Amino acid sequence: MKMTKKGIMNTVITMAAILLVACGANTSKETSSAEQSTSPVLNQIKEKGTLVIGTSADYPPFEWHLVKDGKDTVVGYDIDISNAIAEKLGVKLEVKEMEFGSLVAAVKTGKIDMAIAGMNPTEERAKEVDFSKVYYETDIIAVIRKSDASKYTTFESLDGAKVGAQKGTVQEEIAIKNLPKAEVISQPKNNTLILALQQNKVDAVVMDKVVAEEFIKADDTLMVAPFATPAEKSGSAVAVQKNNEAFLAEIQAVLDELASSGQLDKFMVKNTELMSEQ
Ligand code: ARG
Repeated sequence: MKMTKKGIMNTVITMAAILLVACGANTSKETSSAEQSTSPVLNQIKEKGTLVIGTSADYPPFEWHLVKDGKDTVVGYDIDISNAIAEKLGVKLEVKEMEFGSLVAAVKTGKIDMAIAGMNPTEERAKEVDFSKVYYETDIIAVIRKSDASKYTTFESLDGAKVGAQKGTVQEEIAIKNLPKAEVISQPKNNTLILALQQNKVDAVVMDKVVAEEFIKADDTLMVAPFATPAEKSGSAVAVQKNNEAFLAEIQAVLDELASSGQLDKFMVKNTELMSEQ
């Protein structure tokens, strides 16, 4: 087949266009994968030689204050996970304590490198920060006094009572939304809420089941109420600043590794045992 001059020109133009498109696609692909592999936060962590985590240490077995031989340290499941992440990055771990309700803002503004605090990756929080996959799941329940067992038999029966919940948590939201006639008492720490329950200042505290079980260990006048709350499962995830995919990928790799090796389960057993010793 003989091509006309115009035909050849057209073929050349088409080929050039194809080449351009191909190169274009290639370039944009390279940029996006380069974007994915950069993380200002990760770079800073490596520069500092320290991973700074933020948590609210009132939440055993996730994080709490262990006082041993006069020494007060923040320990827990989340701290063990954080240590594994720091180790993977080859840096030291620093734990910063703050109110639970301040954690998301602290991640967002770079005051801390990540938040790990038995935190649910809610839609609202996910607008501000990025989350790892859920690494632990539990139910949301209410803790009551055993002496009230016949009084509070359904979640709705708490409507009209004084119901405590940690400030800025999913539990607080559940209480406010579902118990319109209750007096919801929000406080920054779960320890003080349990104390208020013991002192008859509140009638119930809404919290994660696994945490409630730890608080109850120390006081057999309290119990997990035998009814469900109108909540979905409570899942914990790690929060990091947005646009730090490489950092999040490192965190996820450690979480996956800990889960598949059975180490995550071991961390849970170890920390519930540590709580029992106290
Ligand atoms: N899971 C609940 C939430 O995400 C409460 C977590 C409280 N954590 C803590 N360390 N006090 O809202």
